[in-house]
Amino acid sequence: MIRHMWNWLRQQPVPTTRPHNWARWVGRNWAHWTYATRIEPHWLELNRYTVPIRGLPPAFRNLHLVQMSDFHAGHHVPSAFLHEAVDLTHAQKPDVIVLTGDFIHKGYQHVERVAKDLSRLHAPMGVFAVLGNHDFSVRNALGMRRYRDLHQAVADSLTQHGIRLLRNETHPLERDGQKLYLTGIDDLWSRMMDLDRSFDGLCPNTPRVVLAHNPLTIEMLNGRRCDLMLSGHTHGGQVKLPGIGRLALGPKGRRFAAGMYRVGDSVLYVNKGVGCGLRIRYGVRPEVAVLTLAPSAPDMQAESEAVKPPVQA
Ligand SMILES: [Fe+2]
Repeated sequence: MIRHMWNWLRQQPVPTTRPHNWARWVGRNWAHWTYATRIEPHWLELNRYTVPIRGLPPAFRNLHLVQMSDFHAGHHVPSAFLHEAVDLTHAQKPDVIVLTGDFIHKGYQHVERVAKDLSRLHAPMGVFAVLGNHDFSVRNALGMRRYRDLHQAVADSLTQHGIRLLRNETHPLERDGQKLYLTGIDDLWSRMMDLDRSFDGLCPNTPRVVLAHNPLTIEMLNGRRCDLMLSGHTHGGQVKLPGIGRLALGPKGRRFAAGMYRVGDSVLYVNKGVGCGLRIRYGVRPEVAVLTLAPSAPDMQAESEAVKPPVQA
């Protein structure tokens, strides 16, 4: 990525004659670099969306679901920044909080610390989480792992600090006797993802929100019902240069890089994450996302027709 950035900098128009123009060029690009490494990685963005859900029970209309992802706790992601993200989340008055993986960046050192920082999170219907590829110590799609028990250490710490971890399982959210499923799937690269265990036995008429760290998981569902999938993993590429795009993502990563996508009957939201692997972001600010659930248009139409007065002859 640094090589790509350097190439981009070299492509910027360079004045060739006067020394003060050179000074201006160096100063401008130094400002870009400083912004990308010192300011944007810790400049949180709040994004709000309304998501229509087919067959959403009335009790869950206007449910506020706040998502944070990809904390990557390490020396480059301090506790103060995580506390700022927690405060921003609480300010949205969430009904449910979901955390979509990559709690730590590497190794065991920051496991307890990130769990403690996130233990401040609270919501009336609970705080739920799934693990990411870094929590499993899987750095790539080949499934190579360096710290074999890391995921268990992360899982134990999160659970001890009051966060409900969903590992290939479904938790039914209940309100006024009505249900909404919240399903959490282990990371796609972990080789522990179990879709049968996650989905089997669920009522087909009950809407489902699915948590899966890697957005490509949505292509593995094979017709299983998923109304909304919340993912992270890509960090939005971390660097998005004008005219060039997201440098750090390959063709697969760019397919669902960041934001909202329609995939078949499902909606996929890819969160840009709170932390980052390498402390550099440009045009891809870290984010907290607020998703408000709403009834789908056909449901609304059916309801309005049901309450219409009978036509007088
Ligand atoms: Fe990540």
